[in-house]
Amino acid sequence: ARPPVAGVVAAHVRDVPDFPQPGVVFKDLTPLFVAPEAWDRVLTALADGRHGEVDLVAGVEARGFVVGAALARVLGTGFVPVRKAGKLPGDVVAATYGLEYGEATIEVQTGAVPDGSRVLLVDDVLATGGTAVAAWDLLERVGARVVGFDVVVELGLLGGRDRLGVRPVRSLLTVG
Ligand code: PRP
Repeated sequence: ARPPVAGVVAAHVRDVPDFPQPGVVFKDLTPLFVAPEAWDRVLTALADGRHGEVDLVAGVEARGFVVGAALARVLGTGFVPVRKAGKLPGDVVAATYGLEYGEATIEVQTGAVPDGSRVLLVDDVLATGGTAVAAWDLLERVGARVVGFDVVVELGLLGGRDRLGVRPVRSLLTVG
């Protein structure tokens, strides 16, 4: 029998203590990204249709691009990049938020999303939820109807799920 997908994820996440700064344990998903069979299991799990019809997948730079672009291909949708400040040309909306380490500003292009599109937001890791809340709100500001936030790994103790409130959140693996 095949192991549950949570076990597949757990076997392909590398904990890196004190990165990018002391006291933070970085969840490195590179071992998953380089393992085709494990990565395929993850993408298949994320593409299970739980959000109903999805018109577009959105992902947050940089690691959310890896998850999001691959999932968009599986679902047969386009991909919307949510980028760090100053990278996207043309008119953008921006949000600044606190991170587990530091602060960040992300942006989405105005006009990137046809009005009312059902958008699935994804990322590699849910930590404090700051990134996800900011990205969700930006997507809605440019006209999306965000249907959910899916991640590969959730750091359960950092309260990200609570910060997302009523927004539907799904993770394939939750760790302390
Ligand atoms: C990481 C991760 C998520 C975010 C989660 O990205 O990929 O986007 O932090 O943290 P939060 O839930 O506390 O907001 P990071 O900002 O390190 O950028 P990167 O993908 O470019 O490495």
